[in-house]
Amino acid sequence: MKTLSIINLKGGVAKTISSVNMAHVMAAVHGYKVLLIDNDKQGNASKIMNRHSYKKPGIAEIMTKRHIDMEQIIQETDYPNLDIVTANMNLLSANLEVMLDQQRPQQIRIKKALDQISSKYDYCVIDNAPDINISTINALVASDDVMIPITIDDFALDGLEELKEQINNTKEDLNPSLNFAGCFITQYDRQNEADVQGEEFLNTLEYPVFSTHIRRTPKMKPSTFARKPILEYSNRCGAAIDYKKLVEEYISKTKGE
Ligand SMILES: Nc1ncnc2c1ncn2[C@@H]1O[C@H](COP(=O)(O)OP(=O)(O)OP(=O)(O)O)[C@@H](O)[C@H]1O
Ligand SMILES: [Mg+2]
Repeated sequence: MKTLSIINLKGGVAKTISSVNMAHVMAAVHGYKVLLIDNDKQGNASKIMNRHSYKKPGIAEIMTKRHIDMEQIIQETDYPNLDIVTANMNLLSANLEVMLDQQRPQQIRIKKALDQISSKYDYCVIDNAPDINISTINALVASDDVMIPITIDDFALDGLEELKEQINNTKEDLNPSLNFAGCFITQYDRQNEADVQGEEFLNTLEYPVFSTHIRRTPKMKPSTFARKPILEYSNRCGAAIDYKKLVEEYISKTKGE
């Protein structure tokens, strides 16, 4: 199993939309067995997948419980080959509990949980909160690859240096094989001069950048209200085509690693 973390310290850059749709494309188009992990107390990925709940265990229990059975935590989605670990507001207190617990290692809890089921899945995609906290550090420790979605605006690159430093620290201390696969632009509008120039500027920086960008589409918001991945909601819109292309680029870029 290859584990991919989608992460950015900034909010609203399409981390959740990208995690859900990349995971769905991997399963629906490529036929891979995929586990989507919602690692954000907002629970938006769980909501889009129609699985948000306080009755069932999820990522909070992975973070806090010593002997967890992943079979009890993983839920099926409505889509073949795509399963989910859900999140809800309980992740807030779970993260605090982990920080106060000096008895057990704090950063390898997601990794240990994923080790249980790694032979069952081809890919695991983790949607993270716009933050560095103990559960995002756990996600980095458990990941093979990291991708950073970027939406071009005045503050698009804020936090990128800090995030890169966190990735490097995690690589150095806890996960030597962690690979920063690259940034990719989301909500791209070619009519907007700022987006065109922002993309050109990003390509001049030292960060790896995917050549696929995800176009802005008016269908995206309604797709979330309909609780559907974009490929199910509107398979011909630009963003649906782009997420398929991005997954292909990611798979070919990281093949054999
Ligand atoms: N390609 C797109 N076209 C149009 N709207 C989009 C696109 N991608 C994302 N959006 C919209 O942008 C908003 C933010 O997306 P999303 O929730 O995925 O961001 P996020 O980075 O996960 O936010 P947060 O930091 O709060 O977790 C949503 O309203 C979503 O519908
Ligand atoms: Mg989100």
